[in-house]
Amino acid sequence: MSKSISDGFKDRRTIYALTNESTISDDRLEQLVRDVVLHTPSAFNSQTSRLVVLLKKDHERLWDIAYEVASTTVPSEVFEKVYKPRIAMFRKAYGSALFYEDAAPIRPLEDKWPMLKDKFPQWSEHASAMHQYALWTLLEAEGLGCSLQHYNPMLDARIAEEWKVPADWSLKAQLVFGKPVGGPGREKAFEPVEQRQFVYGK
Ligand SMILES: Cc1cc2nc3c(=O)[nH]c(=O)nc-3n(C[C@H](O)[C@H](O)[C@H](O)COP(=O)(O)O)c2cc1C
Repeated sequence: MSKSISDGFKDRRTIYALTNESTISDDRLEQLVRDVVLHTPSAFNSQTSRLVVLLKKDHERLWDIAYEVASTTVPSEVFEKVYKPRIAMFRKAYGSALFYEDAAPIRPLEDKWPMLKDKFPQWSEHASAMHQYALWTLLEAEGLGCSLQHYNPMLDARIAEEWKVPADWSLKAQLVFGKPVGGPGREKAFEPVEQRQFVYGK
């Protein structure tokens, strides 16, 4: 690993300028994804998260599909100004990790814990976010740049068809990654931390 997790945590930013190269082998990438899937926590250890990773031609295919879908569903002015350049930019990257949640594991838990029934879907969303963040941080530590996208539900059906994703998995986010060719667009501004962090009993 080129950086510590702690440095990956601090250095992680949104990076859009990415190339179709990787700083690590596909085997190493697959191992990191496996670590995220195995070791990220979930409510009641329900293990609801599913990751589908698309590399190279499959990644390009994803963003070709995004182009096709967006060009026929988004108002043309918005498509030209926003979607078209963004999709072209994402397509130039190396890969995309698709984060899904599978509701099947929480159904028995909802039956077993009826007083928590409304919490399980929320916790499933939380678990997905943890997976997203874990992978984003690990990839940063490996020298890869990422941006987090939300082309769901627009692309759900086409992706499910193309990569045989079970219909009842719900797509939550897409992490686009590749070798960075630029830094983050701007310096990050922070709201006063004193108003956001409170420690008592030190
Ligand atoms: C829940 C969540 C949703 C986000 N959605 C998007 C998105 O759809 N498109 C995008 O380009 N960035 C998205 N971002 C990235 C944020 O805009 C970005 O993380 C934030 O501005 C802080 O910048 P940084 O990532 O460089 O630290 C999202 C981030 C989070 C945590």
